[in-house]
Amino acid sequence: MAFAYRDGALCAEQVPLEEIAQRFATPCYVYSRAAIERNYAAYARALAGHASLIAYSVKANSNLAVLALMARLGAGFDIVSGGELTRVIAAGGEPRKVLFSGVGKSEAEIEQALGAGILCLNLESEAELDRVDTIAARLGARAAVALRVNPDVDAKTHPYISTGLSQNKFGVAYAEAERLCRDAARRKHVRLIGVGCHIGSMMTDPAPYVAAAERIAALAARLEEAGIRLSHLDLGGGIGVRCRNESPAPVAEFMRGALAALGGRAETLIVDPGRSIVGEAGILLTRVEYVKRGEAKSFAVVDAAMNDLLRPSLYDAWHEVLPVREIRSRAAGVYDVVGPVCESADFLARDRRLDPRAGDLLAVMCAGAYGMVMSSNYNSRPRAAEVMVSGSTAHLVRRRETVPELFAAEAIPSW
Ligand code: LLP
Repeated sequence: MAFAYRDGALCAEQVPLEEIAQRFATPCYVYSRAAIERNYAAYARALAGHASLIAYSVKANSNLAVLALMARLGAGFDIVSGGELTRVIAAGGEPRKVLFSGVGKSEAEIEQALGAGILCLNLESEAELDRVDTIAARLGARAAVALRVNPDVDAKTHPYISTGLSQNKFGVAYAEAERLCRDAARRKHVRLIGVGCHIGSMMTDPAPYVAAAERIAALAARLEEAGIRLSHLDLGGGIGVRCRNESPAPVAEFMRGALAALGGRAETLIVDPGRSIVGEAGILLTRVEYVKRGEAKSFAVVDAAMNDLLRPSLYDAWHEVLPVREIRSRAAGVYDVVGPVCESADFLARDRRLDPRAGDLLAVMCAGAYGMVMSSNYNSRPRAAEVMVSGSTAHLVRRRETVPELFAAEAIPSW
């Protein structure tokens, strides 16, 4: 367990969270290196013996320390912006293991990616194929591309994080995919090397994932008949974690299903997991500022807010909240855990049995994915510090922002 109580004190690996709060203050994200490595290893083990690439989805947590860990483990990277590409390279990631997804790549981003020599651009539309072809021609290059297909499979997850349905903006319609692949294969300045999909996030049941894999394999078979040989098939990310009472099937089961669906096809299998690598490996550490008993509800007002962790406000996501000092004697009540931001949607948890006192530390669990990366400076709140624990050592991997930094890029006109 990355986060567990020892003698009544919640610890990250060997380090008590109380110590981390004392050293680095709160709010603060805390990650466990061992947990990240363990989660990566589950993929590596499940795919051993099959040509594969585990391309960590940078959007889930793009801290350089996380990326550097991934690079050392041999991971590739799934990116969605030129900014993420710059981060990956800064962290020591290999550009030739980078896949660039996303529906809106700009000309500058495409040029940057071609210049860096990434593995491929994942095309999401015919218009993008045209754009990449034109840019590559201008640069005298041949751009490696893969087609992101929308397999129209319901991932059965929250509508905001479902991406593989025909009404979603992602990918090329399955019925269109073959024609577009043939088109891409004929172009002089692109080289079609793969097809792929990503149907949604936080999946617990492998069935939709496997169904999508079957559709991708069928497409690859049809392309092969048409003389188009691919070097990889990309099944995206999306495997869920246990945040509340979900019981996602183990990664190995998803991978077994995927490999079976590919039925011995020779292409390299690429997966791009994000949450299942970092989600449970991180927490948000926060301190209770006030306890407030309202007429209808009681509140623990903490120093972290929706600007630090947006998931509860945006998706109604449920994150467990644990007291850092295990409390047995106090009588628990029911509290909303809320932040100082001026929005009624500013809550981290609602209706929890807790017995908070001002000064207590709380840990918001399962916050390693889509936590810090989605944070903002709303209400001129400096973003939190980030700490990575490795055994008995806590490393500061991003220092807390300062207020002057928040407006350093602003200017008052000389009217
Ligand atoms: N590959 C592609 C092409 C993706 O779009 C995504 C996530 C992933 C991989 C990684 O998916 P994962 O393994 O992390 O589920 N902010 C939301 C999640 C958005 C996911 C977007 N795409 C949340 O906090 O739940």
